Amino acid sequence: MTYAELYSYAKKYLTEYEAMCMTEDILGMNRALLAVHGGKPAEHSGEFLTAVQKRLSGIPLQYATGKAYFMDRVYFVGEGVLIPRDDTEVVVRECMEHMKGNEKVIDLCSGSGIIAVTLAKAFPKAEVYAVELENVPYGYLTKNIAYHQANVKAIRDSIFNECMEGEFDIIISNPPYIRREEIPHLQKEVRFEPESALDGGINGLDFYRCIAEKWVSRLKKGGQIFLEIGEEQAQAVSQLLAVRGITEIGVVKDIQNLDRVVFGTKQF
Ligand SMILES: C[S@@+](CC[C@H](N)C(=O)[O-])C[C@H]1O[C@@H](n2cnc3c(N)ncnc32)[C@H](O)[C@@H]1O
Repeated sequence: MTYAELYSYAKKYLTEYEAMCMTEDILGMNRALLAVHGGKPAEHSGEFLTAVQKRLSGIPLQYATGKAYFMDRVYFVGEGVLIPRDDTEVVVRECMEHMKGNEKVIDLCSGSGIIAVTLAKAFPKAEVYAVELENVPYGYLTKNIAYHQANVKAIRDSIFNECMEGEFDIIISNPPYIRREEIPHLQKEVRFEPESALDGGINGLDFYRCIAEKWVSRLKKGGQIFLEIGEEQAQAVSQLLAVRGITEIGVVKDIQNLDRVVFGTKQF
């Protein structure tokens, strides 16, 4: 089949947007290239047709193409790793606004590595660490670090363990934060994503409690913490941080005006 035939085939079954994403991500053809080379026999046609079938069976577009975008960079993803969300840009931007550039940073629950890679690329002098427990996400994390030639050290461990020595200037995290009982009721596409990336325990706060109890003490004096949160968790997370000595606590909203980030500073 030619590139144009593959694109038309995808467009027949999927939205035009999805057909174009697949054409770009799998065949490497944007609209302009398609206009010039559309009549040529396509490479990767088998992969393309498989991806269309996957999407038709309800698998999220990013798993079907194997690629996701976050803040202008492409990341490898697949079943078993959380698909990066635009919401996560809020915590990354807040952190970047506070950074000078030479800090020691740790990204807890790193998944595909979007947070750690974005910070390391923005601040090449920063010392960035990324902690991820699960096998599949850890594989994508290391692949994405290598692909972007980002100066990030990946650590495979649980944040519930004492998994690194030393103190940090910045802790950042988008941990699992969905209440366990909500998980079966999530949208169909989210249910393709790994439960280990979603399940925040009975009240959704297990990881924030762990970060407050185990990690805040690892912040240097004057160090800062930035946490992505669920829309109803700002008060509870702020309290968890406040009792561990975090002050100047702030909440940042996302573009839908929902609470999305809690941040603060360790004074002592
Ligand atoms: C909500 S996802 C966030 C991934 C990534 N930070 C992002 O924003 O796309 C949470 C991640 O935490 C990882 N995780 C779950 N339990 C963990 C643990 N005990 N220690 C470290 N990582 C864990 C999951 O595998 C998943 O990749």
